[in-house]
Amino acid sequence: MAKLHIRGGRRLSGEVTLQGSKNSALPILAASLMVRGTVVLHNCPDLSDVRAAVRILNSLGCKCSQLGHDVYIDASVVKCDAVPDDLMREMRSSVVFLGAILSRCASATISAPGGCELGPRPIDLHLKAIKEMGFSVNESGGYINCARESGRSKTDIILDFPSVGATENIILAATLSKGRVVLHNAAKEPEISDLADFINGAGGKIYGAGTDTVEIFGVNRLYSTEHTIIPDRIVAATYMSAVSATGGDITVKNTVPSHINAIVTRYREMGCEVNFSDDDMRVVSNRRMSRITKTRSTVYPGFPTDAGPLLVTSLALAEGTSLFVETIFDNRFNYAEELKLLGADIKVFGRLAVIEGVRSLHGANVRCTDLRGGAAAVVAALAAEGESTVDKICHIERGYENIQNALSALSADIKRE
Ligand code: UD1
Repeated sequence: MAKLHIRGGRRLSGEVTLQGSKNSALPILAASLMVRGTVVLHNCPDLSDVRAAVRILNSLGCKCSQLGHDVYIDASVVKCDAVPDDLMREMRSSVVFLGAILSRCASATISAPGGCELGPRPIDLHLKAIKEMGFSVNESGGYINCARESGRSKTDIILDFPSVGATENIILAATLSKGRVVLHNAAKEPEISDLADFINGAGGKIYGAGTDTVEIFGVNRLYSTEHTIIPDRIVAATYMSAVSATGGDITVKNTVPSHINAIVTRYREMGCEVNFSDDDMRVVSNRRMSRITKTRSTVYPGFPTDAGPLLVTSLALAEGTSLFVETIFDNRFNYAEELKLLGADIKVFGRLAVIEGVRSLHGANVRCTDLRGGAAAVVAALAAEGESTVDKICHIERGYENIQNALSALSADIKRE
């Protein structure tokens, strides 16, 4: 199993270009299935999750090829078969294919998603909305089968919680239809706007994405299109975390400042200098960070849950006691045990983490518990004195493109084995 060897304690310096967003790329790849023609995606990150999504598209009859960060998809002809189980299970967010398959094929069978490292991952909100849109939903033997039953001219859906995945599935399922869906309490994350921009670029009619009311007017078909995936705001947070922990001066190119406001505010509060010049973000840290009394993860535009492990790592080295409250997922603090092996002082009480900042961390052998928890372990190891190994990096590779090269370019001493 692949691992990273890190010799910590080096200040980071240099320039790096931010990769494309994983959480945008996956639903947009799913949406490509709805295009009766060809799709060219630019700035698509080269990740194991993206490769899994491409395999799902191939299994549905699309012809796909990847050249660097460009992905070409010909979905002129598709097979409306069930997606093979092993492919569905390879990628946690494969459930987003449900809406796209329903739009293109009118029926879909997928395997029910299990739990994940962050706790149970229910899709009740997705299925309830899909029923309300006039699809039948049958769950049995670990499979979910949905089929278009009645055409509705207008459906109002109110989500109990602004779930990102449910919002995406509803947009996808409503795109190719004869009706109109008005979605209330929709997720407002930038990845939702990116998905809507992609679909609209192909001839879709989606209004209000990025606000809490999204209106989808069904269209008969989508046409060939080209789209550039937005930069990854959580990877941007990872660079901020790394510099705050190690000290240094880096420039991250290709950022969208408005997507990372809540994160930048926190790092500035801790004492990092974060400045923007167009889409370049310069992060400078020359002293020990200060504590942040309390941070709560919440939906966009609030502080993102995915950036929580990275902020907690920075706070683990800050002066004083900080609190972090996780409000989105049940089980998000598994990584704290790994940070403790590196010398951090973190106590977890359910959804609350109490972080007593320490002056330094020391090298240790740790493992990735999940994608962002793994990134947090890497940041902690970069800051720790001495050598560390970070095991089970398959989790990290779901969301970070060549993390060892990106960090090496910033003067980190990091090797992949
Ligand atoms: C997406 C992101 C993930 C991020 C999360 C929250 C992708 C591929 N993943 O995940 O990185 O951490 O948004 O910003 O984009 N829930 C239900 N029932 C449902 C759906 C969700 O109870 O039907 C709950 C979940 O268990 C979780 C919360 O709602 O506690 C948030 O989930 P959701 O916004 O749907 O996250 P994902 O789309 O899975």
